[in-house]
Amino acid sequence: MDKAREEKAKRIFRRVLEDIKPSKAEAEEIIANVNRITLRLRKIVPKSVEIKVVGSIARSTNLKGDGDIDIFMLFSKAYKKDRLAALGVEYGKKLVDRKAGERYEIKYAEHPYVRAYFKTGLKADIVPASKIESAEDLATAVDRTPLHTEFINSHFTDAQRDEVRLLKYLLKAHSIYGAEIKTGGFSGYLCELLVHQFGSLAKLMDGVSTLKLPAVLEPGSRKLSIADENLVKKFGRRFIVIDPVDPDRNVAAAVSEESLARLAIISRKFISRPDIELFYGKGFSSSKAGGLLRGFIENSGLDFFLVVLKVPDKSTDVTWPQLRKMSSLAIDFMKRQGFETFLDMSWIDGRNGFLLIASPKLELNSRLMKGPDVFKTKETSAFVDKHKGSMGFVFKNSTIYSLEKSKYPSMEAILKDVADGRIVGKRNDIDFKGAKVFINKIPEEYSYSTYTELRKAVSI
Ligand code: UTP
Ligand code: MN
Repeated sequence: MDKAREEKAKRIFRRVLEDIKPSKAEAEEIIANVNRITLRLRKIVPKSVEIKVVGSIARSTNLKGDGDIDIFMLFSKAYKKDRLAALGVEYGKKLVDRKAGERYEIKYAEHPYVRAYFKTGLKADIVPASKIESAEDLATAVDRTPLHTEFINSHFTDAQRDEVRLLKYLLKAHSIYGAEIKTGGFSGYLCELLVHQFGSLAKLMDGVSTLKLPAVLEPGSRKLSIADENLVKKFGRRFIVIDPVDPDRNVAAAVSEESLARLAIISRKFISRPDIELFYGKGFSSSKAGGLLRGFIENSGLDFFLVVLKVPDKSTDVTWPQLRKMSSLAIDFMKRQGFETFLDMSWIDGRNGFLLIASPKLELNSRLMKGPDVFKTKETSAFVDKHKGSMGFVFKNSTIYSLEKSKYPSMEAILKDVADGRIVGKRNDIDFKGAKVFINKIPEEYSYSTYTELRKAVSI
């Protein structure tokens, strides 16, 4: 970024921070609440168990109004994994005063833990972990967390904490914040490490905008190496950010290449013309979504198919990958029938699963079925035999094709069978049978969710 743009960027950052940084009063109130909660927890857990506030609150990288508290109970190494997990849930439950209107949920990570909801609107994850000095003693993944807090707190200036907030907010605006599978985005800790690696948000944008894959970042030493094939092989990814507290962990493991590409595009846009809009996006209200969606569909000249099915009330970390997998099987089938898709997305909203496909308007009355190389005599006669009833045979170089009547003359015909459960059927939690299919006319009740997803897939 040149000097003039850097100045403009700084002004924008200051302006956005006013919206997203917790006020002094809010920060103090959170601390007071956190202290109250830890005191209550102190009375429940044995003396040998250390209570530690971790996560974005302990690092001052939390966003305004985001009442997410992370409290760890650190057990000595004498406690075995299972025992500590069971005690963790027991203590977490005891903390919750249901008579006072507090409640809890059991959440599942590597082991279950309690998420407590307080009357103040705050929620706290009460997580048990083993107290470790270094990653070599690691028993479970969460054991590293207190070490992360130490690393960030000993390396960060206040200005950098604010830049982490800006980065998180920017990523949220573009739906790529969070390490959940369906997001495939950047976790809070990864945002912190990226700011540390590059030094500032502006420099991070410069770095990401010219990033080449594979890339290996080592925030511990602030080294960036390109194409370290050994590490690429070891982690099985092309974008690797080594955890400074554990060289065996790639903190960017959850980041999809699509999310990284999006960040690169956002960064390039911002560098060439710093614009506050990038942090907020062109807002659209739910009342406008229907019209915008109709406009987009008409303008594209494509056919849009929306498949809506019921999904069980489970974590989307479980159901979304299943829906994604089944959707891509259906799309592969369409491709084999000769239909191209320009765009396909699947998402879950409440108890509904969605698959949206956009494809060129196309009617197919016949298709080519690929056969063997003609010089493979036996295979060729078998193929000709099997396709006796076809309209004829076509050759491309030495490969034979049979010209067949299409079983599916249109995408609509395929989707009818998809909704009858005949193409991908049922697997685990996902059942396409009984799904509803809408073509180009998207019902009002699904417009908002559909347009929101479309905006993520197509940078409009
Ligand atoms: P959080 O997901 O709450 O992230 O995990 P955060 O840093 O507090 O960010 P926000 O503001 O709430 O979104 C808390 C801590 O747990 C560790 C990290 O150290 C993180 O900062 N953690 C969490 C991991 O190491 N891996 C994970 O997959 C999740
Ligand atoms: Mn948190």
